[in-house]
Amino acid sequence: MRRLCRPLALLLLFPLAAALPGARGRFWHVTDLHWDPGYEAAAAAARPCPSSGGRAGPAGRWGSYECDAPRALLRSAARAMRDRLPSPDFVLWTGDDTPHVPNEQLGEEKVLHIIANLTSLIKETFPGTKVYAAMGNHDFHPKNQFPGKEHRIYNQTAELWQPWLSDASLPLFRAGAFYSEKLPGPESRGRMVVLNTNLYYDQNDETAGEEDPAGQFQWLEETLTNASRADEMVYIVGHIPPGFFEKKRGKPWFRRGFNERYLGIVQRHHRVIAAQFFGHHHTDSFRMFYSDTGSPISVMFLAPGVTPWKTTLPGVNNGANNPGIRVIDYDRDTLQVLDMVTYYLNLTRANMMASGQEEEFPVWEEEYRLTEAFQVPDGSARSMQAVLERISGDLHSLQRYYEFNSARYDLAPCRQECRVDHLCAIREVDFTKTSESLASAVMAKSKRKGGEHEITLLANQ
Ligand SMILES: *[C@@H]1O[C@H](CO)[C@@H](O)[C@H](O)[C@H]1NC(C)=O
Ligand SMILES: *[C@@H]1O[C@H](CO)[C@@H](O)[C@H](O)[C@H]1NC(C)=O
Ligand SMILES: *[C@@H]1O[C@H](CO)[C@@H](O)[C@H](O)[C@H]1NC(C)=O
Ligand SMILES: *[C@@H]1O[C@H](CO)[C@@H](O)[C@H](O)[C@H]1NC(C)=O
Ligand SMILES: [Zn+2]
Ligand SMILES: [Zn+2]
Repeated sequence: MRRLCRPLALLLLFPLAAALPGARGRFWHVTDLHWDPGYEAAAAAARPCPSSGGRAGPAGRWGSYECDAPRALLRSAARAMRDRLPSPDFVLWTGDDTPHVPNEQLGEEKVLHIIANLTSLIKETFPGTKVYAAMGNHDFHPKNQFPGKEHRIYNQTAELWQPWLSDASLPLFRAGAFYSEKLPGPESRGRMVVLNTNLYYDQNDETAGEEDPAGQFQWLEETLTNASRADEMVYIVGHIPPGFFEKKRGKPWFRRGFNERYLGIVQRHHRVIAAQFFGHHHTDSFRMFYSDTGSPISVMFLAPGVTPWKTTLPGVNNGANNPGIRVIDYDRDTLQVLDMVTYYLNLTRANMMASGQEEEFPVWEEEYRLTEAFQVPDGSARSMQAVLERISGDLHSLQRYYEFNSARYDLAPCRQECRVDHLCAIREVDFTKTSESLASAVMAKSKRKGGEHEITLLANQ
């Protein structure tokens, strides 16, 4: 009797402690702000914004789908973050601060000026909060051309971010714009690893022939090995993700060798990687990583951008998004992702609202909560595999995922081709397997002769 009653009594006394192994913490992930400092002046002169590339569109007060973010949109995002969660454990800021304009319209000084200005905005929004910032491919001049060795721009950016960087991170940042730090909190066994994956971008000519630019891969392996020895758990954070863009079939960002190397590292060290957080796509999606035997071992979350900018990438149809920001709930001890809440601004609606008072910000609505929207217990790799299976097998879930993908900008039905593009991109970060996956999806489709509901992705099942 006694044996049976004791644990029960403990449970009754500490119901919360029993349900939650580690304390629940929360942090922001914000990415791809892409400020267009020329937006307001262009709007006042009835010219298209600089970042639209001449595409005309109505210049709303809060922004336009053809354009990068006006100041008002960035201030509104900052306000929404402060209203929703003013004291997060920390903030992830994964880069891309400058507008989509040619290099000739920017220059090193202007790029640094923009990074400095957005750094101030984030500092003012979260004074005293730890921010883990990563450089995006637009945070350099000329854009994308990040060298695998020290550079003035790395030095200047390190200077701007010095209040957020530990002393040990500074020299590392100057030498290649990556670093790793223990998470705040005296007893934390969490570690943040911030990468400069712009070194792996296929548009980067500086690192094209190199095997391990800035020695980042070797450093990453060592960092993960050390983390494992120290019984730490790690978040990997960066701007450009490996794998493919889900809105354009067969469109990778990394060079092939770099993609393979990254995958290999995740496979070898997945036990210490609690999750990965990246940006660059401006869309809301995720990526699954598998062991050689096909078990899900890791997940990467891609956060929606703040800029609504409609991509000009050839082959992408209507690739704009509503501005989005995201809170991640996590276990402070294990770093397990417990939940994720994404907020978005319906830009069309915001621009339609009466604009009487100057300081009246539009409401960023809660778009969805991961565990509710997809009926999973948390954001672990296993749960995200369940999400993938659900959206693969059920058109309603797929459509729900698809609407979230653009933060509810594109509400068109996601049919055959769209379904294959998204599911293959989520499932296959590996270049070789992606072509196999696409090939088998196409085969399955041609066998079925128009059965729109059931393209089976044969690969990896
Ligand atoms: C950032 O730019 C805005 C708009 O030009 C300006 O009002 C603000 O003072 C700048 N902030 C800093 C810290 O430079
Ligand atoms: C970067 O800063 C370090 C330390 O201040 C300095 O030694 C180095 O020369 C700088 N590098 C460049 C390329 O400016
Ligand atoms: C890993 O740990 C070793 C031994 O403490 C240390 O010398 C090395 O600098 C660490 N490596 C990294 C990348 O932190
Ligand atoms: C956004 O607002 C517009 C204008 O009010 C509305 O037509 C549209 O349905 C809204 N979108 C969503 C996803 O609610
Ligand atoms: Zn971007
Ligand atoms: Zn980018």
